Amino acid sequence: MAHEQIEAPDNTAVRTALWRALHLHVDPPPHVVEDEIGLQLVAPGDDWRDRPDMDPQATSGFRAAIVARARFIENLIAEQADRGVTQYVVLGAGLDTFAQREPELASRLQIFEVDQPGTQAWKRHRLVELGYDIPDWLHLVPVDFETGASWSEQLSMAGFDPGRPAVIVSTGVTMYLTKETTAATLRQIAGLAPGSTLAMTFLLPTELVDEADRPGLRASEEGARASGTPFISFYTPQEMLALAREAGFKDARHVPGAALAERYFAERTDGLRPSSGESLLLATT
Ligand SMILES: C[S@@+](CC[C@H](N)C(=O)[O-])C[C@H]1O[C@@H](n2cnc3c(N)ncnc32)[C@H](O)[C@@H]1O
Repeated sequence: MAHEQIEAPDNTAVRTALWRALHLHVDPPPHVVEDEIGLQLVAPGDDWRDRPDMDPQATSGFRAAIVARARFIENLIAEQADRGVTQYVVLGAGLDTFAQREPELASRLQIFEVDQPGTQAWKRHRLVELGYDIPDWLHLVPVDFETGASWSEQLSMAGFDPGRPAVIVSTGVTMYLTKETTAATLRQIAGLAPGSTLAMTFLLPTELVDEADRPGLRASEEGARASGTPFISFYTPQEMLALAREAGFKDARHVPGAALAERYFAERTDGLRPSSGESLLLATT
């Protein structure tokens, strides 16, 4: 490892990890998720909260959307694990720290984190540096989705059993991928064993975003472009549902940001609410 060149992690993965930590620093309890391990992995300088994208007000809708989707996914995993599902695939895992934060539940599963090779090598290196062991139930599978390679083959090589159901999650990824790549991903997931569940987030076109959330979306869009990872794909809910049905899913539902707001933020008195700019596709095979 000492001589291996470790690249910097994907900047979008860093940003979402910092937003999860910022939630603990600037929003009063109760916290929607508690995740500071991502911040420990990134180990930014003391001035990380001065980054323009960490402005507590300007980007609050996105910070809330990031913690809302994390909570939704973690509830889904717990529910599916209780139903007997034992495989969990995280497509574009970035600095997801579920495995480190919830080892009791996580170790009942085989977890497959799929991400770009450079970001994943960096994360592995940092986990080890921080003393987190990579247990045998946590599989890090390096894949670049845009090369057209089949990630499901890579998964099988890493020990994934395509004959058994799985939960497949992809949060904060489709906006960086071409629509062809996401359609191909949906087809691969729809071909997994019956009883599998997909949860995938996507960004709405501006005209479908609540007026109040548009400045936040624009700020995020500008930040993403400035850091070299522009948002390239937006979907209407109808378009995403049609893609899922064409891919062959048995059932596909749209979960809007407002549903997550209702579920996890209704009792809050601090005004924190997820942006309506991000939606979820929930589909089953
Ligand atoms: C915004 S981060 C989301 C990370 C995590 N899912 C979350 O919700 O915090 C987007 C992730 O997608 C990954 N990603 C983007 N393009 C990719 C590609 N072509 N192949 C594999 N992973 C990709 C990035 O490396 C990054 O980890």
